Amino acid sequence: MTSAKPATSEQTNNNNPHQTMKDLVALCKRRGFIFGASDIYDGLNGFWDYGPLGIQLKKNIADKWWFDMVECPPIGPDGEVLSIVGLDSSIIQNPKTWEASGHLAGFSDPMVDCRETKKRYRADHVEVLIPTDPDAGNWIAFMEGLENEELEKRIKKLRKGHGSLDEYTRKDLPSIDLNDYERIIAPDVTIPGTLTPPKDFNLMFKTFIGATATEHDDNTAYLRPETAQGIFLNFKNVVDSSRVQVPFGIAQIGKAFRNEVTPRNYIFRSREFEQMELEWFCHEDDAQKWFDFWVEERGKWWSSIGIRNANIRKRPHDDDELAHYAKNGAGCIDLEFKFPFTDPDFGELEGVAHRSNYDLTKHEKHSGKKISYQDPQTNEWFLPHVIEPAAGLTRGVLAVLANAFTYDSNRPSGHFMDFHYDIAPVQIAVLPLHSKGEQVEMSQKIYHQLRSQYRTQIDIKQNIGKRYARQDEIGTPICITIDPDSLSDNQVTVRHRNNMDQDRVSLDSFKEYLRNTFDNHS
Ligand code: GAP
Repeated sequence: MTSAKPATSEQTNNNNPHQTMKDLVALCKRRGFIFGASDIYDGLNGFWDYGPLGIQLKKNIADKWWFDMVECPPIGPDGEVLSIVGLDSSIIQNPKTWEASGHLAGFSDPMVDCRETKKRYRADHVEVLIPTDPDAGNWIAFMEGLENEELEKRIKKLRKGHGSLDEYTRKDLPSIDLNDYERIIAPDVTIPGTLTPPKDFNLMFKTFIGATATEHDDNTAYLRPETAQGIFLNFKNVVDSSRVQVPFGIAQIGKAFRNEVTPRNYIFRSREFEQMELEWFCHEDDAQKWFDFWVEERGKWWSSIGIRNANIRKRPHDDDELAHYAKNGAGCIDLEFKFPFTDPDFGELEGVAHRSNYDLTKHEKHSGKKISYQDPQTNEWFLPHVIEPAAGLTRGVLAVLANAFTYDSNRPSGHFMDFHYDIAPVQIAVLPLHSKGEQVEMSQKIYHQLRSQYRTQIDIKQNIGKRYARQDEIGTPICITIDPDSLSDNQVTVRHRNNMDQDRVSLDSFKEYLRNTFDNHS
């Protein structure tokens, strides 16, 4: 019996990142992972639908997070099992929530408009090329992430065939003096001076509560921009109703909404997305210990679902990028993933923040209700500090997809999805060689034996090569093939996704064989 090996060095997910992204997006649509929302109406910018395989993958990641946080929480630095409970709070809360949390005043992005095209850009996503020779013409703005080749083309176009990238230095738009805006050619025009000064734009989606409510009433409410606030609002409810004692955590998975100025990079920055957030309540004196613990723990967790070490890194926030709530705490460390569109750089996947007791303090003040906690041992009253590992679930799906996408010239599809065995949407495919008769009956029997234990699919249509190609593309780790000999020798062929090794396995022992295979990969 052979066991499946990990992807080999000829197999790579790192050819040309631009092409990888294109191929990945095409695969996700073709195989039913992700579709543009309202596709038949030409889509809706920043919104996505998860197809049959996408929702299964997303659910598997969420279930694993929930299991590892709430049902079987980690063991803490002192050797004790951590105390973490779950919550599912409303998407719409009393609007005072957002006043107290600082989101109404401070949750905004700087935006610039182009007077010529009426297009709107997030200022911190715009870069500017400044000629090193002051007489070499205007400054050229472009959206960050634009490839050098494209930039060269734009310079040539604007300077009628002259100039090249090495005659310029780059600067972020927000660092440019407003007096210099008249020299800047905006990203989608050819004349300078069309950009407005940056203006703050609140990212919360508004809605109006009640059948007769209008925009002019004071019935305005907001779709939550983070799941975290629902946890803070319920801190006292949970303390009063559960047997938790500080330190403890409240975990929540759910939708969040942000009216992003420039949603982009596929599902990376969307306007509707999902988060998996833990608020860990602890005494201020222990906050640093728990911050360090959670940074380590969350890094290990992403590895446990198959994210390769080379694809993830930790990056402390600079002082000027700290969120309003993290300013009084010990800071924030991002766990970043090397997305194809950031490669060779990394992009945020999860933030671990020390929120201090900012939120509880604000809610106590704004609600006028006492929510502080009394330590049963010391009788000390205090508002706990909070360490918050805040992960993107939908962004996690993208990281898992990009991490799994592996080119392999040895197979017909040219690539396969190297999903971790525990989170693969389909874990086992049962494939009779012939589409009729006893092989199908035998396949159905096997399928029924496996389906309650593994996410199993029986696939009868098309020739076997095409079916293997399909299973490779959807990342099924194990295919079981039933051929004419199976009927007489009671054996099946087990094909392993990554190395395409095939083993002949007796049906008397195949359950144990599968158990061992999955155990070796969990
Ligand atoms: N409660 C803290 C908080 O919300 P955040 O860094 O703004 O912190 C946490 O968000 C995570 O949510 C991010 O690391 C990212 O994975 C995900 N996220 C944030 N905005 C997103 C968006 N527009 N689209 C998809 N995921 C997003």
